[in-house]
Amino acid sequence: MNGIQEVRGSTPLSSTSHRNAARRRLSTHMKVLLFGANGQVGREIVSAAASQSDLNLKALTRADADLMREDAGADTIRRAEPDLVINAAAWTQVDKAESERAAARRLNSLAPAELAAAALAIGARFIHLSTDYVFSGSQSGELLTEDAETGPVNVYGATKLEGERLTLKEHPDAIIVRTSWVYSSHGANFVQTMLRLAETKKEVSIVEDQIGGPTPANAIAKACLAVARRSDGAGGLFHFQGAPPASWADFAAAIFAASGKNMKINRIKSQEYETPAQRPLFTVLNCSKIRREYGVEQPDWRRDLPATIEKIVTRGAGR
Ligand SMILES: NC(=O)c1ccc[n+]([C@@H]2O[C@H](COP(=O)([O-])OP(=O)(O)OC[C@H]3O[C@@H](n4cnc5c(N)ncnc54)[C@H](OP(=O)(O)O)[C@@H]3O)[C@@H](O)[C@H]2O)c1
Repeated sequence: MNGIQEVRGSTPLSSTSHRNAARRRLSTHMKVLLFGANGQVGREIVSAAASQSDLNLKALTRADADLMREDAGADTIRRAEPDLVINAAAWTQVDKAESERAAARRLNSLAPAELAAAALAIGARFIHLSTDYVFSGSQSGELLTEDAETGPVNVYGATKLEGERLTLKEHPDAIIVRTSWVYSSHGANFVQTMLRLAETKKEVSIVEDQIGGPTPANAIAKACLAVARRSDGAGGLFHFQGAPPASWADFAAAIFAASGKNMKINRIKSQEYETPAQRPLFTVLNCSKIRREYGVEQPDWRRDLPATIEKIVTRGAGR
């Protein structure tokens, strides 16, 4: 048991909420409100939604709704009256969260709960993103299912876990997608970092004992939109991660191979690479539930990698 209460069934809606929800259902366009539109996943959702003419996506950045401000997101939802809210905004600086716990908690725990409550109040569905860092890491090497015991080893993971719990408390049918090691051609991520290092160095030391799943942001975006389309689909927790499992050192090797960089990798242990936040060692997620419920398959991150690298290199690594 992970202590997350997945209470099913609907909380009674006010008659105004029922009227609004019914009116929206008559429309042929699904009105989607996206928070975090400038992030890795947010940008890919904007891009994927552009080719889906029956989706009416309103993409919000921090300038449109600063989620550090209590109720800013909820007010926006009440005004926009969407059918669906997607929250791709978060505090994602894992190490900085250790020293800025209150801000990380505001973004990752309290803001999602406010968005979820506001979505439910107008009869809108809610999709939220979470992380494999809610786990301490499987000791046995077994894949982690959605109901595996949680136990974050850092502040970021703890705030995301609290966000999951509060979100499901406020909106019992919310859909929470836990993902991991996100990369894309935009934003700060491991692929960008490796390409930047390769510009000036010939060798690099990379951790080999943390095993997880690199996940292309564009695949997460597609998964969110596939889930969005199934208004009758199940709520609760879902795992979605790229395959096959890899260590950071394996991931780095694939990045250098795909970009034609001749870099030597020194494979080191986590203890040899000190960071403010501890990381879990083995967070390979069992992703069969999202496939069963929504027909969403795990992406092979090795297949996506060359195209993402190409985009980064064309623009200039790390810029
Ligand atoms: N990145 C990973 O490796 C990873 C791994 C597992 C799970 N996840 C989860 O996946 C989701 C998406 O991650 P991502 O990699 O796309 O994150 P990201 O690139 O860091 O984007 C996060 C977005 O949140 C926005 N944001 C930050 N503070 C805000 C505020 N006060 N008000 C409104 N928006 C604010 C940021 O806006 P600005 O652009 O203005 O800064 C940014 O666009 C998150 O829930 C994250 O926890 C990520």
